[in-house]
Amino acid sequence: MNAQDDAALWNDWQTLGPPDRIPATAPLHTQLFDRALTLRRVGDAVSVTFADSGQAVPHVQVRHGWVWVCLGTPARDIVELPRWDQPGRVFTHPGSFGVHASALRCVENFLDMGHFPFVHTDYLGKEPHTEVPPYKLHHEDATDQIVATDCKFWQPQGSPTAGGEGLDTQYEYRVVHPHIAMLKKTSSVDTREFDIIVLGLQPVSETSSIGHTLLCYVDAPGSEEPISRFQQIIFGQDRPILQSHNPKRLPLAWNLEFPVKIDAMSVAYRRWLRAKHVRYGAIV
Ligand SMILES: [Fe+2]
Repeated sequence: MNAQDDAALWNDWQTLGPPDRIPATAPLHTQLFDRALTLRRVGDAVSVTFADSGQAVPHVQVRHGWVWVCLGTPARDIVELPRWDQPGRVFTHPGSFGVHASALRCVENFLDMGHFPFVHTDYLGKEPHTEVPPYKLHHEDATDQIVATDCKFWQPQGSPTAGGEGLDTQYEYRVVHPHIAMLKKTSSVDTREFDIIVLGLQPVSETSSIGHTLLCYVDAPGSEEPISRFQQIIFGQDRPILQSHNPKRLPLAWNLEFPVKIDAMSVAYRRWLRAKHVRYGAIV
């Protein structure tokens, strides 16, 4: 379908990832909603043009460490993300990764704790600890976001700074945008604090996307590089699983897919997308 016909997504801000993806002296060629785009650095700012016509994309901003564009008419402001400039925290983006799966599939996978022991074995989970304990889930009316709290999962090595004895990790998930979700999880440096991971998907086409991540970790000396490497390992484990999904687009009607076991967060996400009439990257 033409993304222009999906008003909810077309008239919203979409992330193109951190500005430092753009080489200092050369343009970055990328794609959003099947449109080829060219990104250039202009001093501290970023210009984005349509590759075919050379015309400027009218709505471009750099915020929260990411470049954002809206190809339509923005119906709202860029979503709020956590403040990064807090003392004692490290802010990093460990890279952007291309996936042959719809952006919606990638968000849904990010919300799924059930795959931890099987896909992220010895890191985020391990058999026989396969049960996802019940958690609280609600729609936050004021922000129109899906929030899951009191999520718990036992993790053998939930972060590069974890000691290796395993940790009962607390999670909180929040879907802030059809293509962006974030989670807070217990910091292994200070278990009273949370590390924050934001995943933003750039829908390249209906069946392919680029994932951009932002990490905000409680600082430990020399932790920045291991943290980035750790997240690259985790996303590298997710990629083949995401790419094995068939169909590539996310079914939103229940009669189109009968999962063996579908999680409450996934049900809520799909219902929320249906209510917004999201169709690009979906099967409705
Ligand atoms: Fe995963």
